[in-house]
Amino acid sequence: MNISIIGAGYVGLVMGACFAKLKNKVICIDNDEKKIAGLKKGIMPIYEPGLEELLKENRKRISFTTNIEEGVEKSKVIFIAVGTPAKENGEADLSYVEEVSRKIALAMKEYKVIVEKSTVPVETGDWVERTVKANNVHNVEFDVVSNPEFLREGSAIEDALHPDRIVIGVNSKKAAEIMKELYEPLRAPVIITDIRSAEIIKHASNSFLATKISFINAIANICELSGADVEKVALGMGYDKRIGKGFLNAGIGYGGSCFPKDVSAFVRIAEKYGYDFELLKTVERINAGQRANFIRKIEKAVWVLKGKTLGVLGLSFKPNTDDIRESPAIEIIKTLQAQGAEIRVYDPQTMAKAKEVLEGVQYCKNAYEVCENSEALIILTDWEEFKKLDLEKVKRLLKSPLIVDGRNVFDPEEAGKIGFRYIGVGR
Ligand code: NAD
Ligand code: UGA
Repeated sequence: MNISIIGAGYVGLVMGACFAKLKNKVICIDNDEKKIAGLKKGIMPIYEPGLEELLKENRKRISFTTNIEEGVEKSKVIFIAVGTPAKENGEADLSYVEEVSRKIALAMKEYKVIVEKSTVPVETGDWVERTVKANNVHNVEFDVVSNPEFLREGSAIEDALHPDRIVIGVNSKKAAEIMKELYEPLRAPVIITDIRSAEIIKHASNSFLATKISFINAIANICELSGADVEKVALGMGYDKRIGKGFLNAGIGYGGSCFPKDVSAFVRIAEKYGYDFELLKTVERINAGQRANFIRKIEKAVWVLKGKTLGVLGLSFKPNTDDIRESPAIEIIKTLQAQGAEIRVYDPQTMAKAKEVLEGVQYCKNAYEVCENSEALIILTDWEEFKKLDLEKVKRLLKSPLIVDGRNVFDPEEAGKIGFRYIGVGR
């Protein structure tokens, strides 16, 4: 099938590569000229494991352009995968979705399926339809579909090619058949709904996962007060299939470009309908509290922060990505800096991006360099390579044997045996 994807970001680029792998002819469109020029030369704008190779393997079936008209003309299905960031008041900013909808409408000369892939508030489908109708200069038939995306950064390709489910919100039989045909090779469960239900499925799913994280973080706080270990509690809970093992890692709270904005957008959506989503407001409060608690732990461990050098591992909001949007690590480092601490930091993938937002820190070449002359080692992202550190060597390099672990990367007993004072989350 001929398809276009507007927005060549974490979602658009990964889905483009995956649809090309499934033998579709894909046009990736973005208004960022530098990004498109780079992609044409094979330069990756983001770090996502396996993406570069997948794009290379399928380069005959995927092309890049800034020209929406060209994409619309050559495609039957057009995906909208532009950003939907949070506005100051927490609502989703839909200006890119609107702009793109208008441009698609103006360029349509025959039947098209217009697919919302971006995460959008319920009723956006109605607005897209209205916008397209108002700009449908060639008066052609079209359908709007909501097809939310559930991939995670860091495992995006695996998630996209082996999804737990595919949600298709659609009011037309014709469009439903086209979408089913497109996804058929994945052999995943397909859930067909109306457009509004599909839109809510996405916000409800992300909010549920965020709730699970805040729940386990609340349990971690009780574990700290009672002397229990949240890792063992999570294990014992997770074996219950109704609860499940995933998303029970306590830590410094969720970050990223999705959960924070989607939870706050869902609170605002509910508010608009007159419903006070107290549960999600508490989820947000617990999440913010985790970062504040963690700073207090560091203060308690090293006392005065002013003039102390702290070694920090991790800048991305989670491992296996270079994404630092809404990363708890960045916020925590800025707070420590504001209190006068000197920061030495290392992250395997995000150093270049971090330099744009984080000044006055010493960027180190590796984890061991971070430890040199630091009063403590602070873990903010659970990269696999941090788990494999030689703790004896870490101890020799640090000024004092102290680890404050925001992601429960190390085993407290083992760290204790080596002679560390180890402070984790909920244990
Ligand atoms: P991103 O910022 O990485 O990419 C968005 C792209 O859209 C950018 O390259 C930008 O230049 C482009 N763009 C913006 N306006 C445009 C316009 N008018 N014309 C052409 N291109 C335009 O964002 P992302 O992380 O890929 O997220 C995109 C959407 O998908 C969001 O709604 C997000 O909530 C949702 N989502 C993201 C993920 C994820 O893991 N990142 C997962 C599921 C859903
Ligand atoms: C999340 C969802 O998992 C995806 O299904 C969804 O498609 C995506 O948002 C989206 O809508 O954009 P992502 O943000 O890439 O994906 O990353 P996650 O793996 O969900 O992690 C989000 C945050 O929660 C990270 O900061 C991570 O460290 C934190 N987290 C996750 C925890 O603190 N504990 C956990 O147990 C799991």
